[in-house]
Amino acid sequence: MRKRIIAGNWKCHLTQKEGQELAQAFKGASQNGAIDVVVCPTYTGLSAVGQAIKGSDVALGAQNVYWEAQGAFTGEISIPMLQDVGCTYVVLGHSERRTLFGETDATVNRRLLAVLASSITPIVCVGETLEQREANKTQEVITAQLKGSFASVSAEQIENVVIAYEPVWAIGTGKTASPEQAQEVHQQIRLWLTENYSDSVAQKIRIQYGGSVKPDNAATLLQQADIDGALVGGASLKADSFLGILQAAASNQAVSS
Ligand code: PGA
Repeated sequence: MRKRIIAGNWKCHLTQKEGQELAQAFKGASQNGAIDVVVCPTYTGLSAVGQAIKGSDVALGAQNVYWEAQGAFTGEISIPMLQDVGCTYVVLGHSERRTLFGETDATVNRRLLAVLASSITPIVCVGETLEQREANKTQEVITAQLKGSFASVSAEQIENVVIAYEPVWAIGTGKTASPEQAQEVHQQIRLWLTENYSDSVAQKIRIQYGGSVKPDNAATLLQQADIDGALVGGASLKADSFLGILQAAASNQAVSS
């Protein structure tokens, strides 16, 4: 049984104080560790939010990281720096990084290989655009992203990765993939893992769905066989809505296990 993982991607929102207040609300929401709960503030919020959730069942994640440990890389943040403020997760290859900031599968791969050499758990995002979906290219696009992002990643290493399937057309648009649409792609991702690694590896890896997840659609998405969690944007910025999703995940987990 894969343990569900729900992560809140706060994107470019919230000051330190706002982030601390919000994160406090999620303490204890893992239902005694039945699910993994992660919040991903901005870089400037990491330290303060980290202090607020220290020793609790809420884990700290960053939204990106650079592959070099230090040096003349103006504007970048490194893995040791994330570890220094208590980060245990990092999101890589989010579609906003890909479309707005020139991220490619090759750069995601460099980040991923560096993160896998540390104790931080990477959350690697993949997903197709509406145009690609309408051209029946979803599977092709996702396979290419997986291939590029996971180049040179060993079976032993990949077991520590969380994958997030986030159809670009569903992010921040209010349009959620139907549970069946999401499950279809999750199943394809797991099949890819079986073919390129092994069935036992594929069965261990957690695959989150992301794209307009809300309290009222979380339970049905999470009931799908290959959906093991959610990467939540907008609905993670309000205590009530993120708590609703956490509750859906925890109760759903109890029912299906
Ligand atoms: P959304 O964002 O929940 O606001 O659609 C999801 C994400 O970008 O991770």
